[in-house]
Amino acid sequence: MSFLNFEGKVAIVTGGGAGIGRAVSLGLAREGAKVAVVDWNIENGQSVVREIEALDPNRPVDEVAAIFIQADVSKDADAQKISAETIAAFGRIDILCNNAGIQTYGTVETTSEETWDRTLGVNLKSIYLVSKYAVPHMREAGGGAIVNTASVQSVGALPNSASYVASKGGVTSLTQEMGLDLGPMGIRVNAVMPGSIRTPMLEFSASQQPDPEAAMREWGKLYARGRIGEPEEVANLILFLASDAASFITSSAYLVDGGLSARLF
Ligand SMILES: NC(=O)c1ccc[n+]([C@@H]2O[C@H](COP(=O)([O-])OP(=O)(O)OC[C@H]3O[C@@H](n4cnc5c(N)ncnc54)[C@H](O)[C@@H]3O)[C@@H](O)[C@H]2O)c1
Repeated sequence: MSFLNFEGKVAIVTGGGAGIGRAVSLGLAREGAKVAVVDWNIENGQSVVREIEALDPNRPVDEVAAIFIQADVSKDADAQKISAETIAAFGRIDILCNNAGIQTYGTVETTSEETWDRTLGVNLKSIYLVSKYAVPHMREAGGGAIVNTASVQSVGALPNSASYVASKGGVTSLTQEMGLDLGPMGIRVNAVMPGSIRTPMLEFSASQQPDPEAAMREWGKLYARGRIGEPEEVANLILFLASDAASFITSSAYLVDGGLSARLF
């Protein structure tokens, strides 16, 4: 048996409809967790639920493997709904992956107030909101694990990314603080800091370049591994941090960046 054993556990994954969140949802389900896939994109979210259901075709018809919850994680009412619907379906919450995020561009001069507020709302405020309503249930379940998706841009910046960088710096600071508050309740809180990962988010950035595939190959040359990452390579770290195997790890943030940030020039 894998040391990542999530039998009997219930997980919420925000941004579960695509990219890293999809890989995390499928990974948790493969290891036995029931998963609430949260996304604002209905089509993608429902499609991931169907992929999870297909993992075990012999599942009893009355056994629910996963549910989809449509929500905008930056809104208080939606954050409440996420926990309420997960409890209604599965009766407990053990794992919360705060992963939903958006990439925005601009300097402090060119970023509109609307873009700043939206970026900070989706990437940072959402972690406060979704956790706020999930934590009481995690405490009731006897503890659990929260894993937040930050970015390599939590520790270094790219130009023209003011609101994104600010939001991801906030994610690692909030992770440290939440781990301190929630540790005594048996809830561990950690963050992952991915480099460039081949997801719809990155594919969109690449599509702004004249030759998207060439652009991704070029970005890959900056990495010690000589390539960009795959969503499953981030999901593996998230699954580990969410598992009991990481029982003494909390309030910390971990790079999964193929060596990118080790390079000075
Ligand atoms: N892909 C990368 O290179 C990379 C690098 C570092 C960090 N990250 C971070 O990883 C996380 C996942 O990124 P990804 O690349 O998989 O992105 P993605 O765009 O491929 O997928 C993100 C998912 O989140 C959903 N989402 C966005 N805003 C939402 C909202 N307000 N409410 C609910 N759902 C929402 C989207 O619909 C989408 O399904 C993000 O936090 C991102 O900042 C990504």
